[in-house]
Amino acid sequence: MPTSTADRLRQPHDPVADRLEALLGERYGEDGVQHDETGLTPTIETLLSHRSVRTYLPTPVPVEALELAIAAAQSASTSSNLQAWSVIAVEDPARKSRINAVAGNQRQIDQAPLLLIWLADLSRLRRIAGRQGSTADGLDYLESFLLGVIDAALAAQNALVALESLGLGTCYIGALRNDPATVARELGLPDLVFPVFGLTVGFPDPSDKTDIKPRLPQRTVLHREQYRDNPTGEDLDRYNQTLRAFQKIQRMAPVDWSEQAARRIATRESLKNRDKLLEVLRGLGFELK
Ligand SMILES: Cc1cc2nc3c(=O)[nH]c(=O)nc-3n(C[C@H](O)[C@H](O)[C@H](O)COP(=O)(O)O)c2cc1C
Repeated sequence: MPTSTADRLRQPHDPVADRLEALLGERYGEDGVQHDETGLTPTIETLLSHRSVRTYLPTPVPVEALELAIAAAQSASTSSNLQAWSVIAVEDPARKSRINAVAGNQRQIDQAPLLLIWLADLSRLRRIAGRQGSTADGLDYLESFLLGVIDAALAAQNALVALESLGLGTCYIGALRNDPATVARELGLPDLVFPVFGLTVGFPDPSDKTDIKPRLPQRTVLHREQYRDNPTGEDLDRYNQTLRAFQKIQRMAPVDWSEQAARRIATRESLKNRDKLLEVLRGLGFELK
């Protein structure tokens, strides 16, 4: 996955400290972020280099890469070792396209050779309880749904990191939740299985370079001992400017992050049909007591 950043960071004469400083600089959109160079392990380099990829080559994802990614996913921590998640690998273009209709027809879904659908899966636990001759009343509670969603998210993120370390690109697709019932029908999901999000996977098209998207200053998210009001107006102004610079490089429409964030949560309509999620979940067999 050659990118300008990766190329620059891998110069053999480039000292480790410079590489880490460059990566942190891109992550926070600031120059001169100081850090102890001993912190730069290959894992941290992969994590700090993350960017979502939305333009793919048609090359299929090697089966070995998929299997390694799923082994990485299964290596994630999981509540009480319940492993309450599953994943469906979708490669059939017609099926991808039908799922894409739910997600608002995003170009990367049609283009990516592989779409992984990450599932909160309580159905397997219910079947196991049945085989044990036991009840499964605990599955009726919000806690169990949350457990499945957390397990699925941790597994997916491990897979994402593994795939990126192998030179593949990915992009989460939360837009499946615009209509999870249709996705469930398309994938033949039994009751008590919820599609949490998709993940497009493929080799990034090098002609469409994606840069690292800066994040909020670390002091905005890191609280010490107790929560404090944040972010300060000054931090927000700086972040808005940083993101504006990123948008310009990426030829994206200029908009302040705070405006974008506020718009995303402003009204019921801004949830794009996901305001009905509770009802949809009950239809999928989750009681959510
Ligand atoms: C749960 C989740 C759902 C997402 N859904 C979408 C999506 O439907 N379409 C899309 O293009 N990007 C989607 N994204 C990607 C985010 O827009 C992206 O992670 C964010 O803008 C930060 O950019 P980066 O991943 O390049 O650092 C999603 C990300 C997450 C974590």
